[in-house]
Amino acid sequence: MSAPAAAADVRSDVPPVLVEGVTVRFGAITALSEVSFTVEPGTIHAIIGPNGAGKSTMFNVLSGVYRAAEGQVRFGEHRLDRMRPYQIAGIGVARSFQNIALSAGQTVAENLMLGRHHLTRAGFVAAGLRLPRATREGRVHGERVAEIAEFLELGDKLHTPVGVLSYGDQKRVEVARALCTEPRLLLLDEPVAGMNAEETDRMAEAVVEIRSALGISVLLVEHDMGMVMSLADRVTVLDFGRRIADGTPAEVQRDPEVIRAYLGSGDEIDPAEAAEAAASGASSSSETPGMPS
Ligand SMILES: Nc1ncnc2c1ncn2[C@@H]1O[C@H](COP(=O)(O)OP(=O)(O)OP(=O)(O)O)[C@@H](O)[C@H]1O
Ligand SMILES: [Mg+2]
Repeated sequence: MSAPAAAADVRSDVPPVLVEGVTVRFGAITALSEVSFTVEPGTIHAIIGPNGAGKSTMFNVLSGVYRAAEGQVRFGEHRLDRMRPYQIAGIGVARSFQNIALSAGQTVAENLMLGRHHLTRAGFVAAGLRLPRATREGRVHGERVAEIAEFLELGDKLHTPVGVLSYGDQKRVEVARALCTEPRLLLLDEPVAGMNAEETDRMAEAVVEIRSALGISVLLVEHDMGMVMSLADRVTVLDFGRRIADGTPAEVQRDPEVIRAYLGSGDEIDPAEAAEAAASGASSSSETPGMPS
């Protein structure tokens, strides 16, 4: 992977994600109610909200795990809301999981290689028999795996079993594995959940670099409002299944309804900071140096 390019270098085959009026019900519970937003190509877009707001449900709709009762999700010519998870993966949408879903006994390299299986033409059998084409292909994929590992600062851990890595490293392996599928859209489910401050900063940096170096779109589901403020271009805020705000981090941070939702939940936004942001209008605290614009 080359040096990070300007944020403007968006890959030409990355269409917007258009989420339009999506409603999801589980029996009597309406987990999402007519939610709409657009993920612009090459942006980092965050979906945030208190517990039970519907964030994971939205993520599962986008990756084909849950079906919307109403509404649609479009990605270029594709209707994601009508596709199965493997079909969605096949058109270049990759996801990481909220809970680590790696094979602990296998090495980092082996786990990353799993992300490339749909790209290998030789297939499992030929690879198992070490046929010439499979060996050649394997080498090319191996090089790409090493490159992606390096990109996520896992280069020296390629041959380490995933199970012995730190939690932060394991989460980066998850992201690396998703990148190994060469996605156009990367869906990250709470990538910093359970991380300490240093691990959180490293992951945030990685997300920004992924976007700028690869020119793909990143949709981030996150509980932690603070984390998204420094790296998201745009934020959609959900509360009780409804979209209560959508805008730049600075805009949503001072939105009275957002502040109310977060204060009610008793976490994430520092009440004093939020009140100050609401009172002062344009918040300078969210204009973090280096934030992509
Ligand atoms: N498979 C399911 N069956 C029944 N109810 C569900 C299911 N998945 C989610 N829900 C309900 O839908 C609502 C939204 O849940 P969701 O998991 O999407 O919230 P969330 O924003 O991801 O919350 P958290 O921050 O706690 O992860 C909740 O009331 C939840 O109980
Ligand atoms: Mg969730």
